[in-house]
Amino acid sequence: MAFGWIDEQAELRRRAGLVRTLRPRPAESPLLDLASNDYLGLARHPEVTEGAARAARTWGGGATGSRLVTGTTELHAELERELADFCGFEAALVFSSGYAANLAAVTALAPHGSLIVSDAGNHASLIDGCRLARGTTQVVAHSDPDAVRKALQTHDGPAVVVSDTVFSVDGDAAPLARFAEACREHGAGLVVDDAHGLGVLGDGGRGAPHATGLAGADDVVVTVTLSKSFGSQGGAVLGPARVTDHLVNAARTFIFDTGLAPAAAGAALAALRLLRREPERAARARTVASELHTRLTAAGLEAVRPDAAVVSVRAPSPEEAVLWAAECRAAGLAVGCFRPPSVPDGISRLRLTARADLSEGQIERAVRVIGETRP
Ligand SMILES: Cc1ncc(COP(=O)(O)O)c(C=O)c1O
Repeated sequence: MAFGWIDEQAELRRRAGLVRTLRPRPAESPLLDLASNDYLGLARHPEVTEGAARAARTWGGGATGSRLVTGTTELHAELERELADFCGFEAALVFSSGYAANLAAVTALAPHGSLIVSDAGNHASLIDGCRLARGTTQVVAHSDPDAVRKALQTHDGPAVVVSDTVFSVDGDAAPLARFAEACREHGAGLVVDDAHGLGVLGDGGRGAPHATGLAGADDVVVTVTLSKSFGSQGGAVLGPARVTDHLVNAARTFIFDTGLAPAAAGAALAALRLLRREPERAARARTVASELHTRLTAAGLEAVRPDAAVVSVRAPSPEEAVLWAAECRAAGLAVGCFRPPSVPDGISRLRLTARADLSEGQIERAVRVIGETRP
């Protein structure tokens, strides 16, 4: 029977406790949200939603075409200028998602005959970029600059090192400065995904590369998403103008994809301007993360010390992680649940988002619920 193998796979997933289901959420929910990526609490900020609405009224419901045909509006150009300026890069190029931005950066910067050195903890979108690229990929041990160095030594020709700045599973930061050092010893480029760093790390949320002194370097390219701290949707690649010009000509997820919806561009621009005006939001997200970690650890839970706004709590098994998250939900708390195959090391976790707009009372309540429902 056509697609008969799907039922076999579904049965295997069910037996392993790995079935995923969609749960549409209502517009208003009584749940305390520690599951979303809305790190700065901006997705529903009136200035951000008004930015989206105004852009939709002015430019329409969609971008109407690919960026090279009709899909580049003056709004896209404005967002690119302000984003590049904020993060400290010469140029920015906006994509319809962070996923598309990562595919673009990796594929366009790793031509045939090149080497891609990829951290073992990288996000799926970077991994898929490596799979699609014409270059050869070597996966190296997580956050290990010496492993990067060793991999680069094996290759003669163009090379890029690819890494998240903050890893999405455990919330740990990559050793960016040491990655850059290894790259420079070998004339390799560094491509880093700052999805979880933008809006949280660096001066006023300018991101991990800015915090590390790498912003604006001619051998560093950064990808970001507009869907986390900026409370919108979309992605971008930041770097030297010669790199973004190259992507305009060579990146298939730029050329063959409809431009970012004006509403998303308008929301992201509003969030960016808000963050410039209220830079303390970034530091508050970091403080909330650290508070959550301290209290969870004091309650005897195994939580990884957060480097940004992601707090990860170990669960004994995938089944228990799912049950734990469900019990939190029943007690009024929404948390993320990470389990195989989304985790490279096979360890299941609850994943908490330290939103900048959480109150002391909400932090306390979240920790209490997680402690009381532990397996
Ligand atoms: C590290 C990382 N990179 C890229 C993405 C993809 O970004 P987007 O959701 O904008 O496609 C995500 C998550 O969504 C992520 O966590």
